[in-house]
Amino acid sequence: MAKTIIISNRLPVQLQIGKGTINAIPSVGGLATGMKSVHKGGESLWIGWSGLTDEDIHISLAPKIDEALAKHGCTAVNLSEQEVEGFYYGFSNRTIWPLFHYFMEYAEFELDFWETYKSVNQKFADAIIAQSDDDDIIWVHDYQLMLVPQMVKEKKPNASIGFFLHIPFPSYEIFRTLPWREEVLKGLLGADLIGFHTYDYERHFLSSVRRLLGLEVSFNEIYLQNRVIKVDSFPMGIDYNKFSNAAKKKMANAQRSDLQEKLDSHKASAPGTKLVLSIDRLDYSKGIAKRINAFEYFLNKYPEYQEKIRLIILAVPSRSNVPQYQLLKREIDELVGRINGELATVNWTPIWYFYRSLPFDSLIDLYTSCDIAWLTPLRDGMNLVAKEYIATRTKGTGVLILSEMAGSAYEMNEALLINPNNFEEQADTLKQAITMPEEEQANRIEILQKRLSRYNVEVWANSFMETLIQQKEESPARVAK
Ligand code: ADP
Ligand code: G6P
Repeated sequence: MAKTIIISNRLPVQLQIGKGTINAIPSVGGLATGMKSVHKGGESLWIGWSGLTDEDIHISLAPKIDEALAKHGCTAVNLSEQEVEGFYYGFSNRTIWPLFHYFMEYAEFELDFWETYKSVNQKFADAIIAQSDDDDIIWVHDYQLMLVPQMVKEKKPNASIGFFLHIPFPSYEIFRTLPWREEVLKGLLGADLIGFHTYDYERHFLSSVRRLLGLEVSFNEIYLQNRVIKVDSFPMGIDYNKFSNAAKKKMANAQRSDLQEKLDSHKASAPGTKLVLSIDRLDYSKGIAKRINAFEYFLNKYPEYQEKIRLIILAVPSRSNVPQYQLLKREIDELVGRINGELATVNWTPIWYFYRSLPFDSLIDLYTSCDIAWLTPLRDGMNLVAKEYIATRTKGTGVLILSEMAGSAYEMNEALLINPNNFEEQADTLKQAITMPEEEQANRIEILQKRLSRYNVEVWANSFMETLIQQKEESPARVAK
């Protein structure tokens, strides 16, 4: 029977070696959390990196590792420390990530990174070639694996290959600065269908293909000599019922968790007290430092809210070997320390800051207990946290403040949309959120919930798959014309 092969750098679980044991920890990040729901429901095999390096793995542990991954329907591409350095920390996260998020000054163009990226992409492609049958559907994910589609197509010209980019595709003026821009585009063109979160990313990609490769491009198709490639936007959804049901279960449970108790006690400390939540991986693209500065600005502009509002920042450790992430960590530590030091009173700490990953259950506690979610990425391919927050607001209250630079803003017009660089607007919007009547909150949330439950992650995956299958069927006839 034909199966779907999902391939991404990050698997849905990360392995850690304990004392003679292997522990599988859920991965954080939109790709892993979203695709996990798709993978669970179907006949699929997921190929990716386990998070361990060859140097971590003693030969005696190898079978246990395979077994631990097999339980999750996964199989590993093993990488050495040197490969992880050049491919993952290097080209993926010091070149492509900053460039595609418009942080040009952070992008490093190192030939060594590029060479390792190519050889590791070949490793992933070889794993697919070895493990796929001719009628399988191959779905490649994200910026770490942009050369894989072409590498697979070369060896398996009849394979159905889809590629989805989970981050923005930047405008041509940014993309053209990449020294290996043609190679990256040609790598992607091995796919039969290339998907993006938004129409703008799709448009930017097509413009680069036309201008850099000189290929014939129509509205959303690219014409090669022997096939037609479709390019389209598929805004990724969430596993809506999972979040909504988890929230309902919480509401029905009279027993409160320690975290809920703590959050409740803060709200009970003074009438009208509000909790504002911000959750992100600790990443410069998420605008965390600017958000903290904007919060200080707000407290100074509207001092009547001091002691009546608390900002909860949950920052999940991410890519901590990359210098920019280390600098950001230090900047945020200092900012939080300074603001709390200057403004805290005996009864009040303005910011609660957690630098860790939390279990799903605690995430739901935070989503359901906080009155406002404040998400201000400077650039974000999608931002699933915004959608998850809305799905958990089963009582119909809560306000989402969302950056217009997030892909999800295109589908969430009923949120309060802001420009993260405009402090004045951010402060005023926070005040608007605090004072928004419950009826208005409910109206906005109801519309958002309807939309998110309809366009959930399953609908997203099916729509991508159906388009891919249709494209494969139609492409030969189109070329013959
Ligand atoms: P990105 O993919 O850039 O990290 P998204 O907002 O799209 O951003 O996705 C983040 C995902 O990680 C969400 O599905 C969210 O539930 C999950 N997540 C975020 N913070 C935590 C945390 N502290 N613990 C566990 N999962 C988290
Ligand atoms: C974003 C990327 C994913 C990545 C995730 C977490 O969502 O699009 O590809 O997996 O961040 O980052 P990490 O580097 O830990 O895999």
